[in-house]
Amino acid sequence: MQQRKLLHRRTSPVIWFIAIICTIVAIAVIVTGLVVFIGYLIIRPRVPSISVTQAHMEKLGYHETGQMDTQISITIKAENDNAKAHATFSDLSLFLSFNGIKIAQLTAGPFDVPKNSSLDLPYFVQSSSIPLAPEGMEEVDASLKRNKISFDLKGDVRARWRVGVLGSVKFWGHMACQLHFFPSNGSSLNPPHCSSRSQ
Ligand SMILES: *[C@@H]1O[C@H](CO)[C@@H](O)[C@H](O)[C@H]1NC(C)=O
Ligand SMILES: *[C@@H]1O[C@H](CO)[C@@H](O)[C@H](O)[C@H]1NC(C)=O
Repeated sequence: MQQRKLLHRRTSPVIWFIAIICTIVAIAVIVTGLVVFIGYLIIRPRVPSISVTQAHMEKLGYHETGQMDTQISITIKAENDNAKAHATFSDLSLFLSFNGIKIAQLTAGPFDVPKNSSLDLPYFVQSSSIPLAPEGMEEVDASLKRNKISFDLKGDVRARWRVGVLGSVKFWGHMACQLHFFPSNGSSLNPPHCSSRSQ
């Protein structure tokens, strides 16, 4: 009598049912994880990004007293390669600096980039009387001698895709690179490879 009851319990259809449900749920979780992961790998190289497409030094003035002034034009391209979703960029903030001294901040308020398109943001940095420390002056001297001057461009941007029912997908991009110019004619040394997209 007792044994029968035990046997009966072991083969309880409720237990089987729960076991099957658990197995299905586990498989569903694994498959969903794989789909999300593969989707991420496919989409990742195409997240909204910003990059420098053009840079030119219009002017470089340097005074023996340790003051520098410069004018630099920079074009930042905001790209949205997604053919299915509009992208909204916000909190674009980049600092241009020379030898550790911040010269200018390039910013942009929220703006939209339609599906599969891009937007060029032209900036013109005009700075007067940047006071240089002695090592900054040495750096300018050395730059003029070797006909190559370098500026740092560094900062962040936020972007998000508006996706129908899901709401939005948010991204955060970071860019840090150097812009090199010929002081003699202001051309940028090489087409700058500055992008928030991880290489
Ligand atoms: C996206 O734009 C490129 C050119 O910029 C074009 O060749 C391509 O067909 C477009 N893709 C879609 C899905 O519209
Ligand atoms: C600027 O000067 C550099 C070297 O001094 C030269 O290689 C480059 O071609 C010049 N660029 C232009 C646009 O003249």
